[in-house]
Amino acid sequence: MTHSAVNLTAFSAEQIRKEFPILQTRVNGKPLIYLDNAATAQKPGVVIDRMNDYYRNENANVHRGIHTLSQQATTDYESTRKKVQAFIHAADEEEIIFTSGTTESINLVASTFARTILKPGDEILISAMEHHSNIVPWQMILEEKGGVLKVIPINDNGELILDELDSLLSSKTKLVAVSHMSNTLGTINPVKEIIKAAHEKGIPVLVDAAQSIPHFPVDVQDLDCDFLAFSGHKLFGPTGIGILYGKKALLDTLPPYHGGGDMIKTVTFEKTTYNDLPFRLEAGTPNIAAGIGLGSAIDYVNSIDWKSAVAWEHELLTYTTEKMLEVPGLRIIGTAANKGSVISFVMKSAHASDIGMILDQEGIAIRTGHHCTQPLMKRFGVPATARASFAFYNTKEDADALIRGLLKINDLFG
Ligand SMILES: Cc1ncc(COP(=O)(O)O)c(C=O)c1O
Repeated sequence: MTHSAVNLTAFSAEQIRKEFPILQTRVNGKPLIYLDNAATAQKPGVVIDRMNDYYRNENANVHRGIHTLSQQATTDYESTRKKVQAFIHAADEEEIIFTSGTTESINLVASTFARTILKPGDEILISAMEHHSNIVPWQMILEEKGGVLKVIPINDNGELILDELDSLLSSKTKLVAVSHMSNTLGTINPVKEIIKAAHEKGIPVLVDAAQSIPHFPVDVQDLDCDFLAFSGHKLFGPTGIGILYGKKALLDTLPPYHGGGDMIKTVTFEKTTYNDLPFRLEAGTPNIAAGIGLGSAIDYVNSIDWKSAVAWEHELLTYTTEKMLEVPGLRIIGTAANKGSVISFVMKSAHASDIGMILDQEGIAIRTGHHCTQPLMKRFGVPATARASFAFYNTKEDADALIRGLLKINDLFG
C-alpha cells in the first residue's frame, strides 16, 4: 500500500476525535488516550444517537410485522445489509449474513460448510498467527469429522512463509482460513495471493477480516474470497453484530445453521422447508439496534477521507515504532514489512501486565496478555505482550504520551 501521494495536512485526527464522546473523557484523572482499538474501536456520537433513537422512537421487531414501526425497523435494519454489500463490494445483497460477530461468522461456516464437506483425513489450512476464533471452531469440527488442522508457518518478522503454501495445499485440503491482518503482530497478509494459489487447486478460502476492515478498504470481489468475516464493534459500530460474507453459489449449498423463526418457509410437525438466503442462515430475532447502528457506522466511515485515514494510521505506526525503538530494553514483536497500526512489544524491565497497569494510571488504555493468540505467543517465546493499537482518531500526542509512560516504567522498574 503506498501512502506517499496523500496530503495529510487535509486530514485532521484532532477534528475527527471530537466526534467520539468517550475520547473527551478522563480516566484516572487523566485525559483518556485510547490505544486498544484492535480489541474494540470507540463509537462516534452518530452511532450512539442512532441506536438511542431506535430504542426511543422506533423499537419493533423486524420482518414479521405489518404495523408501521415494524416496517420502519425492517427497512432500517435491512438498509444495513445494502450498506455492507456496497462497503465490501459484494455482488449480491443475499451474500451478506448478519451474525453476532467474527467469531459467530466463522463458527457458522464450520458448522455448516465444513460439517457438510469434511471426511476423515481431510485438512483445513490456517496460519500460525490466527486468533483463537479462527483456530478453535476448525479444531472442533475437525475433531468431530476426524480431520487434521494444518498451519502455514511464519518467520521471525511475523510474516507468512508462503514458500511452504504450495506443499501445504493438497488434495486433502478442504478449506483455507486465514487472517487478513494479525491482531497481535499487525502483519497484513497477502490474502489475494493465497486465494489465487488455493483456487488453482479448487480450494475455497475464508478471510478473517476482523482487523483489516477498520484499517483499509476490503473488496471481496477483488480478493475473490469465498467467505469473509468481520465484527461491527471494531468498525466503530456496536457490539453484538457481525457479518459473514459468502459467495452466493456457496451459501446456497449450506444447510441451515440454527433452527427457529425467520429461517423457515413452512413448518409442519412432519417437515419444515427453509427460507431463501440470507434469512435461511439467520434464525430468531436479530440484534436490530446493533444492525441499525452498524449501518450508521458504515455511513460514518464512508464520510471520512478514507485514503487519508489509512495514510495517517501508517504515519502514526512509523512515528510510534521509531520512538519505541529508542526506549531501552523494549522489543517489538511483529516487524513485518507490510503492517497495520498494531504494535506488540515486551520490555526487559516489566511484565506486560505491569506495563498495562502503569499506563492505565496515566489514562492510557492498551491491551496486555496473549491477545487470543496463544500459539503465536509460543512461536515468539513470550507468555504475553503489551499491545498498542491505533485508529484514525489517534494523534502523535497519544504516541508521545505512550512513550513517556514507557520511559516512566523503565524508571520505576529498571
Ligand atoms: C483477527 C481476529 N479475528 C477474530 C476476532 C474475534 O472477533 P469477535 O470477538 O468480535 O468475534 C478478533 C477479535 O479481536 C480478531 O482480532
